[in-house]
Amino acid sequence: MPAEHDPGESTRTVFDRLGDVGLVPVVTIDDAEHATSLGAALLAGGLPCAEITFRTAAAAASIETLAEAHPEMLIGAGTVLTVEHAEAALAAGSRFIVTPGFDVTIVDWCLAHGVPVAPGVMTPTEINLAVRKGLGFLKFFPAEAAGGARALTAIGAAYPDIEFMPTGGIDGDNLATYLRLPMVSACGGSWVAPRTSIARGDFAEIERRAAAAADIVRVVRAGA
Ligand code: 3PG
Repeated sequence: MPAEHDPGESTRTVFDRLGDVGLVPVVTIDDAEHATSLGAALLAGGLPCAEITFRTAAAAASIETLAEAHPEMLIGAGTVLTVEHAEAALAAGSRFIVTPGFDVTIVDWCLAHGVPVAPGVMTPTEINLAVRKGLGFLKFFPAEAAGGARALTAIGAAYPDIEFMPTGGIDGDNLATYLRLPMVSACGGSWVAPRTSIARGDFAEIERRAAAAADIVRVVRAGA
């Protein structure tokens, strides 16, 4: 049985938890059989959350496997391009939805179903659309290509009530820079759990990467 979406779990609770972790691994899984070991590696490394992308046919099954094997993890769906993806993600046990761009149909569907949604935004115009929908947690995508920390600093200054999750081009070298920005509550990135490492079952490598990234979050949060 897929885990069920808990309608009592508030959007604030979900996004606060992502903010507490500080880094959301963006994960593409080709074979759902890898999901349990992947979750174990991320947990062991200190990252109890993941965004599973709808870039493969195994996405929904991977979410279901992961949510069942590691209920202590906060599992969401990424690269959600259609309402059908969102429905499949939710049925599989996804607790939040991330989209690369601002799709009003998906946002409205998520709001109507009480599903936390973090749409991708890159410009003030898109952020305005999100503000109008009452959203407070947005993915800044693709962060590095869109101007990086400098762009987010300038854009975010105009939206003091919005929390951003920059994603796209983030790695161990620039993670701390983004995390130090006041408008950033968490970052996202695929470098922690590369698709190739998952496919060849190299979960020790993923645990190492997760632990190194979690260390960076700790150091930044400790104010060092
Ligand atoms: C995403 O879907 O959020 C991005 O592809 C992740 O970007 P990255 O691969 O540069 O981390």
